[in-house]
Amino acid sequence: MKNLLPELIHLPKIEDPRGNLTFIEAEMHIPFEIKRVYWIYDVPGGQARGGHAFREQEELIVALSGSFDVEVKHGLGSQRIHLNRSYYGLYIPNGLWRHFDNFSTNSTALVLSSTYYDEHDYIRDFDDYLLYKKTMQK
Ligand code: TYD
Repeated sequence: MKNLLPELIHLPKIEDPRGNLTFIEAEMHIPFEIKRVYWIYDVPGGQARGGHAFREQEELIVALSGSFDVEVKHGLGSQRIHLNRSYYGLYIPNGLWRHFDNFSTNSTALVLSSTYYDEHDYIRDFDDYLLYKKTMQK
């Protein structure tokens, strides 16, 4: 069974005096097949992104450069995770509310997604999300 909580995954890190290298293989280091990759960058100070939940999408979030926080709301409460190393990926299962904030200057948030972009997969209103969770528990 797949996790219902976010999980910080330590990715392979090949250290080298010429510069370090990290890689991700679908279904090897992360528990899903990658269908889509996107990234968020040039975020002005104080801005937040990604305040919503997904019905189906599972994702892995990596701070490729700089740092930012991911806040995730789940069945056991909420969790704020500071990402600032490009060899850590935050796995977020489907059905959890999440948003990103506290972006440092020149940060880049890489998101690997288990689905193609589909607006119908989004739950964008928090009250709708709470209702959705209640319905799922029945
Ligand atoms: P969205 O995921 O809603 O980001 P945020 O919650 O931070 O606002 O994406 C913003 C816009 O970009 C939205 O209009 C949909 C579009 N978009 C795509 O077309 N393809 C994608 O893969 C993603 C992630 C977003």
